[in-house]
Amino acid sequence: MKEKIFEVINTRTQQGWLMIDQDYKVVYINQSMCQWLSQDQSLFIGKSLLDVLYKGRKRTLSGHYHGPLIETMETGQELTKRECCMPICGQHKWFLANTYLLHNVLGQVQYALGDYVIIDKYKLLEENLDNINLSIIRSFADAIGARDSYTKAHSECVAELMLELAQYMRLEQYKVGRVYLSGLVHDIGKIGIPEHILNKPGRLTHEEYTIIQEHPNIGANILDNIKGFEDIAGAVRYHHERYDGNGYPNRLCGEEIPLYSRMLAVCDTFDAMTSARCYRRPFSEQEAIKEIRRCSGSQFDPVISEAFIEMLYYRDNIGELDF
Ligand SMILES: [Fe+2]
Repeated sequence: MKEKIFEVINTRTQQGWLMIDQDYKVVYINQSMCQWLSQDQSLFIGKSLLDVLYKGRKRTLSGHYHGPLIETMETGQELTKRECCMPICGQHKWFLANTYLLHNVLGQVQYALGDYVIIDKYKLLEENLDNINLSIIRSFADAIGARDSYTKAHSECVAELMLELAQYMRLEQYKVGRVYLSGLVHDIGKIGIPEHILNKPGRLTHEEYTIIQEHPNIGANILDNIKGFEDIAGAVRYHHERYDGNGYPNRLCGEEIPLYSRMLAVCDTFDAMTSARCYRRPFSEQEAIKEIRRCSGSQFDPVISEAFIEMLYYRDNIGELDF
């Protein structure tokens, strides 16, 4: 009977199961979990989960444990319905996990076992957002897309980066949704910028640049008229401020700049640098990361830029970054 139950768990259940010993070595992983992680069982069994998924680290730079199993083994606390993400093939996959401690006959902790269900983060996010608000935001995104397809695609990429960064920074669920929406509409004010300036392929004149710099205020003024959008309007108004106070439109500095705007500054710049434009080649991810780090503390909030780099580091399995 036990064998039959084990066979179901191993091969047929839709739930992922993973078990580690005290040295974080994987002693069991079932087929569902392997499929989700796109890896063979042999890649995990007998290897340290820290090495396979988290480059040997138990915690992120911001001090959070990398996964619920690691946390359970470290703290002795079993966890229930813990949202977690794992970096897999250049993507973060999201799971809901429960963890359990298994003891030996002496009552000492021997293993930590986890069950995992994969979740669609975007679907969950949309369910948590007010549907009316989301449809307004989508209409804005479509409106900007009708004039400027680059800005629409860029905004969607920035929104996804914002979402991942917010999750990585462990912001509250409500804030994660607001951060995502801020990304979608951050450049909505470009609707008010004349076509010949918006899509000019070459360098802008000083006068044209001054006009472009109006877009954060134009966007924020549009959003300010919608009840419940005050925080998003604020994020949009200040997304071109710089941490050192040399940005626009109000030359705010440090934490005077709203949190979502400081996050936008990093995600916006990263996506812009790594996108192909007709007047320059895109930066590689490594080059863009170098640039973000170079501007950390001047253009960007140093804590947020480091969290962003770290998030990419685990997600994309990029080389050492001198942590
Ligand atoms: Fe912008």
